Amino acid sequence: TTNDFVKIVEVGPRDGLQNEKTIVPLDTKISLIERLSTTGLRVIEAGSFVAPKWVPQMADSTSILSHLLRSPPLAPNPVTYPFLVPNLKGLESALPSTTPPPHPGASEISIFASASEGFSLKNLNCTIATSFERFEPVVKKALEHGIKVRGYVSMVISCPYSGDTPPEKVVEVTKKLLDMGCYEVSLGDTTGVGNPYSIDVLMKALLEAGIPPEKLACHFHDTYGQAIVNCMVGLANGIRVFDSSVAGLGGCPYAKGATGNVATEDLVYFMHSVGMKTGVDLEKVSEVGAWISEAIGRKNNSKVGPALLAK
Ligand code: HMG
Ligand code: MG
Repeated sequence: TTNDFVKIVEVGPRDGLQNEKTIVPLDTKISLIERLSTTGLRVIEAGSFVAPKWVPQMADSTSILSHLLRSPPLAPNPVTYPFLVPNLKGLESALPSTTPPPHPGASEISIFASASEGFSLKNLNCTIATSFERFEPVVKKALEHGIKVRGYVSMVISCPYSGDTPPEKVVEVTKKLLDMGCYEVSLGDTTGVGNPYSIDVLMKALLEAGIPPEKLACHFHDTYGQAIVNCMVGLANGIRVFDSSVAGLGGCPYAKGATGNVATEDLVYFMHSVGMKTGVDLEKVSEVGAWISEAIGRKNNSKVGPALLAK
């Protein structure tokens, strides 16, 4: 069938590294992105244009963007490199630049909203309503420049600050992002507290509200080891875009207790095992996972990668 292709959005260089305590050298970040580019991945989130005093680890994202544009990584297929943008100031960094070194600008950005007030205040320093007032001109200007915009919704199941998230709230925020011009909305179980039941209830609420599955992506963190089974529920509900992080890197600096995303290696293995196609070379991506874990001195949080490489 034509519905057996799953697009994997690799978020390791951004969601994976943003929470690392010691600053990862720019060369290591660029090498990570270049290595990931050889694996068949089609989307690699490469950084974020946020306030450096909030997230110092992402402060060199401008250098990453200009490097990627000046020396595009070797890849077997076209790769998109999106960057997170919270406001107009962040968008400036994504636009074409004439100051040396000049570059033609990012082709895609992501804006990130929350389904919970508590997390919106922690993460964006403003209410959900104010965050949307700030996103509006960002999306408008990005689209005027031909930059595609993806949306994120955080805390879609529960929030450490505000408690359980009503699915209707996720529906409301998702619709707003789509109405604003986002081509796709990624649903963040930021702290990994979802289970197959709560994820299914959420999926059904979104689909019953008339949001087509083609407009949705699953962004599940693996804090409690439930991310793969939750992705399976997404798959069963018709979702074909999944976010993951090589070696399961990551966590959100403003989400207490959150660990990394589902590992890309584990997601690819799972998808292939149920007959889906990803275009991703599992062995190659496992090697990248082993390399980055070693390079930043971190435990490899993938199960599949080390098992495969040990064979
Ligand atoms: P604020 O402090 O309210 O902003 O932060 P402000 O407008 O008052 O500015 C404060 C300072 O930041 C000023 O500098 C600005 O120039 C600067 P100063 O005058 O003090 O020297 N500034 C910026 N600098 C660079 N780029 C910018 C920018 N904006 C302001 N874009 C703000 C508000 C939104 C900026 C801040 O809260 C912020 O940067 N938040 C981002 C937090 C973040 O990156 N979180 C992680 C990503 S989200 C996530 O991980 C979840 C996700 O994975 C999905 C999921 O798992 O659920 C996506
Ligand atoms: Mg995340």
